[in-house]
Amino acid sequence: MQRHRQAIWGDDDAAGLEPLLVEKGTETVAVSEIETSLPDELTRDTIALPSLSEPELARHYTRLSQMNYGIDSGPYPLGSCTMKYNPKFTEDVAADPASSVHPDRDERTVQGTLEVYHELQSSLAEIGGMDAVSLQPPAGAAGEFTGILIMKAFHEANGESKQRTEVIVPTSAHGTNFASAAMAGYDVVELAEGEDGRVDVEALRAATSDATAGLMLTNPNTLGVFERDIEEIADIVHEAGGLLYYDGANLNALLGRARPGDMGFDIMHYNVHKTFATPHGGGGPGAGPVGVTADLAQYLPAPQVREVDNTYELFVPDHSIGKVHDAMGNWLVLLKAHAYIERLGAEGLRDASAKAILNANYLATQIELEVPFGPFHHEFVASAGEQDAADFAKRMLDYGVHPPTTKWPEVVSEALMTEPTEAESKDTLDKLAAAFNAVCNEDAQALETAPGETAVGRIDQTSAARNPRLSWHHLE
Ligand SMILES: Cc1ncc(COP(=O)(O)O)c(C=O)c1O
Repeated sequence: MQRHRQAIWGDDDAAGLEPLLVEKGTETVAVSEIETSLPDELTRDTIALPSLSEPELARHYTRLSQMNYGIDSGPYPLGSCTMKYNPKFTEDVAADPASSVHPDRDERTVQGTLEVYHELQSSLAEIGGMDAVSLQPPAGAAGEFTGILIMKAFHEANGESKQRTEVIVPTSAHGTNFASAAMAGYDVVELAEGEDGRVDVEALRAATSDATAGLMLTNPNTLGVFERDIEEIADIVHEAGGLLYYDGANLNALLGRARPGDMGFDIMHYNVHKTFATPHGGGGPGAGPVGVTADLAQYLPAPQVREVDNTYELFVPDHSIGKVHDAMGNWLVLLKAHAYIERLGAEGLRDASAKAILNANYLATQIELEVPFGPFHHEFVASAGEQDAADFAKRMLDYGVHPPTTKWPEVVSEALMTEPTEAESKDTLDKLAAAFNAVCNEDAQALETAPGETAVGRIDQTSAARNPRLSWHHLE
C-alpha cells in the first residue's frame, strides 16, 4: 500500500512550515474612537493587523487545512471517542440567522426555539426509553456528573444518602465514569469484567450491598460486547436499593432496536456527538442531555420546557438539582442533533445502527490482527500483539488514515479500539483495513519513528499536554 505524504507548505525563512499570519507582516492601523467605560489601560489607539491580500489570506488557510487531518479528509475510527461525519445540512440549519437566539429573551418571544427544545426532549426520551430529558449538560462527561447528582438527590430524599456511599463502575469503563462518581463524593468500587469481557454477574452480586448508590454501565460495553445479562444486572442493583446509570456513548449501536429504559436503566446521558452527528468541537461546545425515569424527573436540572395549552414555557422541576450550564445548554449543538434526528426519522436511525454494526464487523474480518472479545457490535478492540499500540497508531497516519483509540480498555493488551461508524463506505473500510495490514507487516523500527509522512512528526505528547502553547504570543 502506498504511503501518503501530507502537504507541507512553508517559507524558506519559517522553519519549513506555513508561517503565522503575523509573521507574514503587519500594518499598524488607527482604531476609531468610541465612547467606552473601559479603563484606559484596557483600550488602545492603534492595532497591528496582518497585512495580506485576499488571495494570500485564502491560500494561508487552505494550506493549513492541507497540513491537517480531519473527518472531511478521511475516516476517523476512534472507538468510543467516536468522531462521526457530520452531515453539512445540520451546519446550514445552525448557521441560519433565524437560529441565533439570545438566551435572555422572554419566553413568549422564542416560542419556536422552545418548541424545538420540547421536541428534542421528547424524541430523546422516546429513543432512550426514558420519561423525561434535560438538554442542559454541555458534554457526555457533564451528563454523567449531572446523572450522578440526580442519583444522590434520590438517595437523599429517601434518607439513605449517608448509608449509600458507593458507585460500582466496571474496570473497562471510560475514565469519566470514575471521575463523575468521585466528583459527586462517592467511593468508586471497580468491577473486573468476566472472561468473556462482560459484567461477571456473581462478582456484581458480591459487590452490591446497602452501601450501593448505583452502577454505571454502557451497553454495548467499551469492548463493543452486548451485556446480555442486563435484566439480571438491573435486578441485582435494584434489589440492593441502587440505581442503574447508562453511559450513552455507545447508543448508536442500539438506535431503533433496543432502549436503555427497557433494559432497566434509571438515568442515562446521550452523547449527541457520538450518536446524532454533531461536532465534538475539539473541546468546544457539545451537548450531553440526561434522561431519567418518571420518579426522577423532579430532580432534573432547571429550566425544563413544557407545553401548556399550545404554549411552551420554562419551569423548574420540584426538587431540581439546579443548573449545570448557562441558559438551557448549547442551543446550536442541540439544534444540529434535532435536525439530524428529524431528517433521518425512525427508519433512518434504525438503519444507522445496522450500518454501524455491519461496518465494524466487516472491518474486523478484513484486518490481520487478533480481536480477542466478541461478538461485538459497533466497535471492536483489536490487539497490536507484540507491537506498541501507540507506535502502531502513529504509523497508520503515514498511510493516510486516522488511527483508532489506543491502549484502552486495558483488558486487551496493546488495544486498538476501532469504530468505523455507519457513515463509511466499503471502499473506505477497505482502505482502512489495508492501512492496518500494511502496518502489521512492518518491523518495530519503522513504527517507533513514525509518523514520517505527516506535516508534523512525532510530538512530545507529555509536554504538549502539560505546557500547551495556546497562542502565537508564546512564540514571540
Ligand atoms: C464510554 C464513554 N463515556 C463517556 C465519555 C465522555 O463523553 P464526552 O467526550 O462527551 O465528555 C466518552 C468520551 O469519549 C466515552 O467514550
